[in-house]
Amino acid sequence: MTQGIFITGTGTEIGKTVIAGGLAASLKQVGTDVGVMKPISTGDTADAAFLKHAAQVDDELSLINPIYLRNPLAPAVAARMEDREIDLSCIENAFAELQQRHDFLIVEGVGGIAVPIRDDLLVVHLISQLQLPILIVATAGLGTLNHTLLTVTFAQQFNIQIAGIVLNGLRPESAGLAEATNPVEIEKLTGVPVIGVVPYEKQLDTPSPDLKFLAEFTNQHIAWRQLEIL
Ligand SMILES: Nc1ncnc2c1ncn2[C@@H]1O[C@H](COP(=O)(O)OP(=O)(O)OP(=O)(O)O)[C@@H](O)[C@H]1O
Ligand SMILES: [Mg+2]
Repeated sequence: MTQGIFITGTGTEIGKTVIAGGLAASLKQVGTDVGVMKPISTGDTADAAFLKHAAQVDDELSLINPIYLRNPLAPAVAARMEDREIDLSCIENAFAELQQRHDFLIVEGVGGIAVPIRDDLLVVHLISQLQLPILIVATAGLGTLNHTLLTVTFAQQFNIQIAGIVLNGLRPESAGLAEATNPVEIEKLTGVPVIGVVPYEKQLDTPSPDLKFLAEFTNQHIAWRQLEIL
C-alpha cells in the first residue's frame, strides 16, 4: 500500500470532501491508521474540520490545514489579496509530520488540478511535490467526459499516477443515456478505472453527515479495493 492519496476533482463543489471523508471512515473501519490533510483552504476551514472528524484524529487543525486564506477564491488570488505568498515548505513540513504520525494520508486538494496556488504554481505542482497518486472526483452526467479527460490528460503530463475515478451525485430519477454510458466511456477514453458511481443522497447534503452512514453509503457505491494503490 502506498502512503496516501490526493483527492482532486474536475472542479469545485464536486464532492471531494464527501468522498475523502468516506474513504477515511472506511479505512478507519478496517483498522487503518489514517490521517487527513487539506493543505490549503479558502473561505473557511470546514473541509479540514470535517476530514478530521471523519478520520477521528486528534492532530491539530493547523497541521491538517497549514494554509488558510480568508476569501473563497483560487489560492493565488486569495493570497494576493492578503499580500501573502503561499509557502510550499510549510505544506511539506506539515505533510511530513502527518506522515510520521499515520500509516496512510488522505489529502484533499483545492478546486481542480489546474487551480493556481501561486503565480508560478498550480495544484498539479503541489501533487507532484507530495508524490501522491490521485483519485479524481467527477460529476455523473453530461459534460463529465470533457472535464474528466482534460483532468486525466493534464495529470499525465506531470507523470502523476491516477489511481481511479469516482463519479459523484448521480440522480437516478433523472439519469439518462449520458449517465448510463459515462462510466464505460470514461474508462475507454482514459484507461483509468471508474471505481464507483455515487448517487445524490439527501443525508449527505449537509455540512456534517453521519459518519457511519457516510462509510456505509460510500462502501456500497465505491469499490475501494479497485483503487490501484490500496
Ligand atoms: N453524493 C452526494 N449526495 C448529496 N450531497 C452531496 C453528495 N456529494 C457531495 N454533496 C454535497 O455537495 C456539496 C459539495 O460537496 P463537497 O463539499 O464534498 O465538494 P468539494 O469538491 O469538496 O468542494 P470544495 O471545492 O469546496 O472543496 C456539499 O454540500 C456536499 O454535502
Ligand atoms: Mg472540499
